Amino acid sequence: MKKNLFAVLVSVVVLFGLVVIAYAVHEEKPSETMVPLPGPDAVKLYYYITKDNPYDKWELWPGKGRLYEGREPHGAFLTTYVNNRAYFSAKDKTGKMADSSIVVKENYTPVKKLAALTVIYKIKDYNPSAGDWFWAKYDPYGKVLASGKVEACIKCHGGNKANDFIMTEKIGK
Ligand code: HEC
Repeated sequence: MKKNLFAVLVSVVVLFGLVVIAYAVHEEKPSETMVPLPGPDAVKLYYYITKDNPYDKWELWPGKGRLYEGREPHGAFLTTYVNNRAYFSAKDKTGKMADSSIVVKENYTPVKKLAALTVIYKIKDYNPSAGDWFWAKYDPYGKVLASGKVEACIKCHGGNKANDFIMTEKIGK
């Protein structure tokens, strides 16, 4: 009888512990939807993708591994991360990336040293004639090298306008 009571007590304590841990984890790591997305601001966007919702915990571009071979101008090797919105848009071949999609691409040199981050972030009604993408380029320490409606980015990616300015692969069926 005593033994049973002990077992019950232990279970209660363990359960309580689990609830506390679950709550703490939940508090510490809010889901993507709980952290408000930044506006068209490269410094805030960098904070968001490195602190609020660190991109290195996101999915990779569907079907792409780490350090795959890239093309000019981005880098010899690339690793491309996508937030949930972007992941499902690309994976489900919706033909268009959903609003609030973010794609973060690490650009590496031929000796696999990180050279830059290039980011696209879809903000509803930000720039309708160019897919509503906010463009940003950072050095490896987060310094903003270019941002906004960057002409050079739009010009080259614009060759794939029908693919929502995405170059990595066809996102439609
Ligand atoms: C001369 C053409 C060119 C220019 C300029 C260019 N890109 Fe790209 N971009 C590409 C190509 C090609 C890819 C596909 C990846 C690869 O194989 O290199 C790509 C891929 C990307 C991706 C991954 C999502 C996608 O579209 O497939 C991001 C993010 C990106 N570029 C951001 C930028 C930003 C930000 C700029 C401007 C600072 C920029 N790019 C300028 C050609 C270009």
